[in-house]
Amino acid sequence: MDHYITTSRAARRSGGCLVVGIYEDGRPGEAAAEVDAASDGLIRRLVRAGDLSGELGDARLLPQVPGVRAQRIVVAGLGKRDGFGVAALRQALEAAVNALKGSTTGDLVSYLGLEPLGSVTPYYVARHTVEAVGNAVYTFDEMKSERKKPRPPLEKVGIAVRDASERAAAETGARHAEAIVTAMSLVKDLGNLPANVCTPAYLARTAQRLARELPGLSARVLGEAEMKRLGMNSLLSVTAGTEEPAKLIVMQYKGAGRGQPVVLVGKGITFDTGGLSLKPGPGMDEMKYDMCGGASVIATISAIARLELPINVVAIVPTCENLPSGKATRPGDIVRSMSGQTIEILNTDAEGRLILCDALTYARRFKPAVVVDVATLTGACVIALGHHLTAIMSNRDELASSLAEAGLASWDRGWHMPMAEEYERQLQSNFADFANVGGREGGAITAACFLGKFTKGLDWAHLDIAGTAWRTGQKKGATGRPVPMLTEFLLRRAGALPDRP
Ligand code: BES
Ligand code: MN
Ligand code: ZN
Repeated sequence: MDHYITTSRAARRSGGCLVVGIYEDGRPGEAAAEVDAASDGLIRRLVRAGDLSGELGDARLLPQVPGVRAQRIVVAGLGKRDGFGVAALRQALEAAVNALKGSTTGDLVSYLGLEPLGSVTPYYVARHTVEAVGNAVYTFDEMKSERKKPRPPLEKVGIAVRDASERAAAETGARHAEAIVTAMSLVKDLGNLPANVCTPAYLARTAQRLARELPGLSARVLGEAEMKRLGMNSLLSVTAGTEEPAKLIVMQYKGAGRGQPVVLVGKGITFDTGGLSLKPGPGMDEMKYDMCGGASVIATISAIARLELPINVVAIVPTCENLPSGKATRPGDIVRSMSGQTIEILNTDAEGRLILCDALTYARRFKPAVVVDVATLTGACVIALGHHLTAIMSNRDELASSLAEAGLASWDRGWHMPMAEEYERQLQSNFADFANVGGREGGAITAACFLGKFTKGLDWAHLDIAGTAWRTGQKKGATGRPVPMLTEFLLRRAGALPDRP
């Protein structure tokens, strides 16, 4: 999606569609008032007649408004005046795009950023605008026989700013958002594709294609023989039950000479049946999303390369299937991980941590400044935080805070959860160094503690995205999270954000 910044007033702006807003109490926002004046009071008349709603989530399309140069206007509800912030801005824009379904407009320009948004800078107004529109137009029909053209066929989004002084920051925000939207769409595509298409080899080919396309980015793919030589027996125990070959994808982006890299590690289970500790049938199809952590780190490093940021990043994705068979790992089996520590596999459904632990050990060879792993790791995380916030666990409180702040600024929020030693004790094993499960209680935290046994001495954080990576029910589909949080975190580390005014 292309973008532009404009300083022209609403009524004078030509183009396919303007997005303006009115508040819940019926009062027009800044651009709606201009449109109202230019159209001889049309907006106020429609509000009085009850034909326009200011409720957040409502939006109406008005074609051919007199006195206005644009072909159509969408009037979006903004909700309460003092509650209008980033969340409302994004929700109003999503509603505006939905109101355009069926329309043929190829462009829209949002005037919603002209409303009082408190401390939200022009940079973030532009970023959230392009991101919200980009997310709203996403569709996935790759597997449908009849592929419809997207409607509206939006190719361009404009962001209205107050004056020329805001132009540069808004331009930067829109450019960053475009890279984020591209990355999120990739994660959604990879997540939504079924496991018989999106295999470990498919993920590996995707990484290699991105490396060919983007500057400074490279990709290497290790096979099972190489993993065996490295001693990755924990990872290999998960893939033992399937015919589909496992891969270890390693991507590197060099944008800053010799600096120590940020290493991102993502769980790439392309399908999780639970293995011999088989999952129940209902809803098992959703375990095709179990590679979303891996997809999000592949997509994030690609966004960083696309933006040519001055920072070094490595993305590591251990990827395989978790299936039962005569060759599958049994509950009670003990394996020696690449770190040398032995693991009693009491539950083969706790497989994410088994592939991540060897990938985390492998990460050490890059002498990382920071390691962040991303995984749809536990159902317990969904119980703890629901589908709204990502769980953040870390052995460094400041690192958890920076990730939480990045999540807040990018509106891809997370919450810092504890990692006290008491939880780690739940992993005790009678026969090996420790077990791969620690009981039901505090399951998201004991999973993090398991990973913590492999990240001693590193600055490490763990994101459990089990609740945030996809939606279930009617709107079933991958969300593209936590690409915004991770990209924001890296933009900050690279010093790529414009100064606050
Ligand atoms: N991929 C699942 C976690 C998951 C479950 C994500 C449901 C989203 C929704 C993971 O591999 C898993 O099965 N975890 C187990 C761990 C347990 C056996 C300790 C779980 O959460 O039940
Ligand atoms: Mn599992
Ligand atoms: Zn899993």
